[in-house]
Amino acid sequence: MLRLITGIPGPSGFGSASTAEQVTEGIDATNLTAIITGGASGIGLETARVLALRRAHVIIAARNMVAANEAKQLILKDNQTARVDVMKLDLCSMKSIKDFADNFIALNIHLNILINNAGVMFCPFQLSEDGIEMQFATNHLGHFYLTNLLLDKMKDTARVTGIEGRIVNLTSVAHLHTYEEGIRFDKINDQNCYSDKKAYGQSKLANLLHANELSRRLQEEGENITVNSVHPGLITTNLMRHSARFVSMF
Ligand SMILES: NC(=O)c1ccc[n+]([C@@H]2O[C@H](COP(=O)([O-])OP(=O)(O)OC[C@H]3O[C@@H](n4cnc5c(N)ncnc54)[C@H](OP(=O)(O)O)[C@@H]3O)[C@@H](O)[C@H]2O)c1
Repeated sequence: MLRLITGIPGPSGFGSASTAEQVTEGIDATNLTAIITGGASGIGLETARVLALRRAHVIIAARNMVAANEAKQLILKDNQTARVDVMKLDLCSMKSIKDFADNFIALNIHLNILINNAGVMFCPFQLSEDGIEMQFATNHLGHFYLTNLLLDKMKDTARVTGIEGRIVNLTSVAHLHTYEEGIRFDKINDQNCYSDKKAYGQSKLANLLHANELSRRLQEEGENITVNSVHPGLITTNLMRHSARFVSMF
């Protein structure tokens, strides 16, 4: 926590004050293709911008195509040779996720990096298109399903290219602040005991457990793909749309 607040570098030489450009300096990502969910704003947009700067082929997966195209234009404004595409993905709809995966696979290109970044935070109780509490549906289940649909493509890519694949789940220190039982599998949709904060924590705990278990399984299978979860720090973004008062306390 001290490092997080002060920005003191860790063993890698980087810390919470390091920028994405600093961390990726000198990297040539020409041969890499990356999907970034929620890449039209906030952390996802900065990730897309910097991966494109390092010459990766970036796919911004977004539910709002107007915002996604604006994000693409923003990246191209400073980097005219950037390879950026936008594709429709709504993580709170299983159908949209399947369509996205089918469309991506139909492109017949490699997939080296999957950044499960999109998220919603502290929203009032609501159900997804599939009838699942919105934070759990969007932050965890959507990414879980998406990752499973794209996993064979990532395994093939890693085998054919010999390049280590990467899956990154954006989680949060909020994974520590969840319901007493951790994840309430039998009460996910129970509005009576819904807490917007704990439901967010629950979904972020699920992101973390998903990364840990997938990492373990891929290692066991001998696949050349690493899976990590990351807390990105506290950054003012659109994520705070349901929590302006709460966040202003920090
Ligand atoms: N900012 C922080 O301090 C912080 C701290 C810890 C963890 N995180 C995590 O970092 C990640 C990125 O957050 P951020 O701060 O960059 O917030 P953000 O600017 O609000 O970005 C989140 C992105 O996710 C997209 N999204 C939301 N629901 C979606 C859905 N159903 N389908 C597809 N895309 C959807 C949003 O699109 P719309 O614009 O269409 O809603 C937006 O582009 C999140 O997973 C968050 O939990 C952030």
